[in-house]
Amino acid sequence: MENFVFGYCTKILFGRGMEDKVGAETKRHGKKVLLVYGGGSIKKSGLFDKVVKSLTNAGVEFVEFGGAQPNPRLSLVREGIKSGRGQKIDFILAVGGGSAIDTAKAIALGIPYEGDVWDFFAGKQKPQSAIKVGVILTIPAAGSESSMFSVITNETELLKCGYGNDLIRPVFAIMNPELTYTLPPYQTACGCVDIMMHTLERYFTNVTDVELTDRLCEGLLKTMVDKSGRVFENPDDYRLRAEIMWAGSISHNNLMETGRIGDFSSHDIEHEMGAIYDIAHGAGLAIVFPAWCKYVFRHNLKRFVQFAVRVMNVEQDFENPERTALEGIDRIEKLFVKMGMPVRLSQVNIGDDRWDEMASKCTKGDTKKTGNFLPLAKRDILNIFELCR
Ligand code: NZQ
Ligand code: ZN
Repeated sequence: MENFVFGYCTKILFGRGMEDKVGAETKRHGKKVLLVYGGGSIKKSGLFDKVVKSLTNAGVEFVEFGGAQPNPRLSLVREGIKSGRGQKIDFILAVGGGSAIDTAKAIALGIPYEGDVWDFFAGKQKPQSAIKVGVILTIPAAGSESSMFSVITNETELLKCGYGNDLIRPVFAIMNPELTYTLPPYQTACGCVDIMMHTLERYFTNVTDVELTDRLCEGLLKTMVDKSGRVFENPDDYRLRAEIMWAGSISHNNLMETGRIGDFSSHDIEHEMGAIYDIAHGAGLAIVFPAWCKYVFRHNLKRFVQFAVRVMNVEQDFENPERTALEGIDRIEKLFVKMGMPVRLSQVNIGDDRWDEMASKCTKGDTKKTGNFLPLAKRDILNIFELCR
């Protein structure tokens, strides 16, 4: 096991009706709030009105700031920084999914900083401070409600970059599984894939003697395989939605990475696809991950056999471990298909014309490898694209 530091400062308020507590929770941290949300689902569902009521009852002033879209844009972040500064806000409340939350986090970094907020995402500067952020989550997926990351798309340079700092880990996250009943099946599926992926990226490690976190990862993955196989027929089943929602946070709050070194190359590759083609993050991961598995599994066959047997319920073939590993990979790919996810680039209209550009960006012009399980050079990424053509 590796050395690690693990701090988890997000207060979780989980369960039915918890959104009514947003006013009281917010009041602990600020008096004037920037209320960041996405494209309007919260207005349709009636959540917006509930939030307004709770904030007003608590005597908290707010400034509305909607419009965050999937693959959230830098231009909107810059607008939010301007608005937040002009209105002298002292807290940011994000209501929505990863896109609204990541927009809020980036605004939180940008308000106290004199330069351009992209400096942090480009790795040029480190922030000294940030405005605090709180969250009401409406889609379990990105794990941003308790993660230290914000992922923003620079739409002029066609770059999608993540930045992580404990300063932007939300101070509270309100999670009511009932708020997820209105999710379209495609978004539910994208979310389930992303949740599984945050654990899978950590599960495939070369670090040994990590039995406890292996078992935690396997428990989370088995739960997700089961629940995401059933939620589409039962979208209003609280029990299923609740398990999925809590898994989303645990999968990405770094608990699963304690003592291990995660991989994250599937994420890195997907971010290049999202930056250019604006596809949903979970859908991009469903395409890349099975291909990544097929490309790297021989590097640590034992781990892939363990995954196949313990997570995907494959019967171990002692004579032929490769067959066992491949069966595990096949089963997860089939699960993604069953959930309605694409598993080939052609299904989201990505041809081979920009493979070179994406592979090059992902490896900084082939000067830096991506991932840790089997670090990938540009050529490897092109080979992975070929496997999911
Ligand atoms: O924008 P609205 O109208 O709210 O609609 C959203 C959006 O269209 C809709 N939606 C959300 N909750 C709903 C709902 N529709 C009906 N009922 C509800 N209850 O779902 C769509 C997707 O929302 P979005 O916020 O984009 O989803 P997600 O949470 O998957 O976030 C994706 C973004 O997070 C980033 C991704 O790269 C992507 O940009 N990630 C952030 C991470 C982090 N900060 O730690 C880590 C992840 O790996 C990921 O990269
Ligand atoms: Zn993700």
